[in-house]
Amino acid sequence: MVKIINVVGARPQFIKYFPISRAIQTFNDQSGSPIKDILVHTGQHYDYEMSKIFFDEFGIKEPEYHLEVGSGPHGQQTALVLQRIEDVINKEHPDAVVIYGDTNSTLGAAVAASKVHVPVIHVEAGLRSFNKYMPEEINRILADHVSALLLCPSRTAVNNLITEGFKNIINKGSLIAEDYSGLEADINNPSVINVGDVMFDSVLHAVEIAKKRSNILDKLDLAKEDYCLLTIHRAENTDRKDAFENVVQFVNNTANGRKVIFPMHPRTKKVYEGAEKKFADNIKIIEPAGYFDILMLLKNSSLVMTDSGGMQKEAYWLNVPCITLRDETEWVETVESGWNVLYREYTGSHRMSNTDAHYGDGQTAERVAALLKSIQ
Ligand code: UD1
Repeated sequence: MVKIINVVGARPQFIKYFPISRAIQTFNDQSGSPIKDILVHTGQHYDYEMSKIFFDEFGIKEPEYHLEVGSGPHGQQTALVLQRIEDVINKEHPDAVVIYGDTNSTLGAAVAASKVHVPVIHVEAGLRSFNKYMPEEINRILADHVSALLLCPSRTAVNNLITEGFKNIINKGSLIAEDYSGLEADINNPSVINVGDVMFDSVLHAVEIAKKRSNILDKLDLAKEDYCLLTIHRAENTDRKDAFENVVQFVNNTANGRKVIFPMHPRTKKVYEGAEKKFADNIKIIEPAGYFDILMLLKNSSLVMTDSGGMQKEAYWLNVPCITLRDETEWVETVESGWNVLYREYTGSHRMSNTDAHYGDGQTAERVAALLKSIQ
């Protein structure tokens, strides 16, 4: 049996872990429990709407460990993850530690595991914005460079890692077979593997559940395509007053009287309370929404404006035009296809060209589970 520690802590990580936990469960049901999955919640996100709601909606098991690191400056938050997860790793002696995305929880776990010589498996490896003022960019670069298996969501991500000197590129960087297995998680000879995007799996599965379970459209009295959706939470938009006010101005202008629904992240709420420039009356602020409600809000909107990485892709998969409230994006394919435009380049319309699948085929979680089952 292979023993894995999965580390989650922030909202997008619950969404990424969800399909993988299902795939592990299916494997275990079918073939005599080859994978022991120990779940660690770092506690980076802790409000009900930012954390527990996702466990409830997805039916994710109760984590075996809660690290309760809470909020704090980057150094403190990362250090608490590092310190507390080391104890868990030393107690459990896992065969690998699986980390997700690019948060401070990702980095803390990557450093802790690699320092005690446990192979790190990074889900969503290889993404780059080429902007080191983003805390997530630092987290990605550092986490990738101590990982043994770098599981990439796209060809672009593989190419970024090749540029940074990674040599062991599995299947020449093309999507691997669903049952690809038997890879060595070699700390000194890391492998780069295109497995597709696990968030594509999440969307495909969750949208069907959301249609049945979410009543958010009725609750907010919304009809299909009679509103836009807005989300803002990135540090580069919320930590500087001028940057934040630029975004507020852009949103007010672009909405131009149209109804906009804005589930407001706690970080943004703090900034907004002190801001002089306010959103126009047509921007309706609500509490952060669960995944099913967000998917329904997104799927039925006429336009999304967001600085979230995940929502840019979700918009693309659900055929909703997107304006990204940032100066660059890791998800270049969505921009190339015309479905996504960076806000400073927005001229009032989108020119959508295609929806070619750039991010796998919705079977990424099965690929990851097959790799986990057989790591050596
Ligand atoms: C983090 C990730 C980001 C991810 C985002 C998803 C880092 C560096 N950033 O950003 O990549 O896209 O999560 O949401 O790890 N807070 C609450 N309640 C909570 C959680 C946070 O009130 O449950 C407040 C805290 O007081 C804190 C602020 O929100 O000041 C920011 O939280 P933090 O987890 O540090 O970063 P995020 O902005 O959420």
